[in-house]
Amino acid sequence: MSADDDEALERSLHRWKIAGIIVLLMLVLGFPIYRAADARSRSVNSNTREAGMLDTGEKLWADHCATCHGEKGEGVYAPALNSRQFLQETTPQKISGLVRVGVPGTLMQTWVDELGGPLTDEQIEAVTAFIVSWTPNAPDYPDWRTEFLGTPPPVPSPSPSPTASAGTASGE
Ligand code: HEC
Repeated sequence: MSADDDEALERSLHRWKIAGIIVLLMLVLGFPIYRAADARSRSVNSNTREAGMLDTGEKLWADHCATCHGEKGEGVYAPALNSRQFLQETTPQKISGLVRVGVPGTLMQTWVDELGGPLTDEQIEAVTAFIVSWTPNAPDYPDWRTEFLGTPPPVPSPSPSPTASAGTASGE
């Protein structure tokens, strides 16, 4: 072997070493970049899914719950649910569980279709997510429950005749 050959071999080895380092750097740097991009796209997906669920929940709330519990959960004929105290002491599981079966003997009916109610489990999950979404801004409201319990029902029981109901109204 001549000295020239040795030198050529050396140079070629050197080139391979550099190429190896570049590949290694690409792997080392590329992985975290890939991971960050992947995590971002995953969190965007879960955010849109959550937003869709909240939209559904908001609509369900307006259609089915607002008459009694208030447009913003402030309570009308039924406990206010938009209360820091209520939301802090409850859990999503407790809310959806109660909404599924209702409270027998009160205006709070059974909601889940499985028991004859109008909503699916998925819809109850959505309306629960909507209620829970009030938590960060829920007002201080320790009397959330007692203030509205016993308030007359939204749909008055059919009165015997218009004159009788007019009489009651003027009598009070
Ligand atoms: C016709 C009136 C009425 C409607 C409509 C109604 N509720 Fe109720 N809800 C009540 C009453 C009254 C109570 C309190 C029951 C009791 O005495 O414990 C109640 C209780 C609750 C509670 C339990 C609060 C607690 O004491 O822990 C939750 C949660 C709730 N309702 C959610 C809902 C949701 C969600 C909807 C719509 C899908 C809804 N309600 C529709 C009347 C209503």
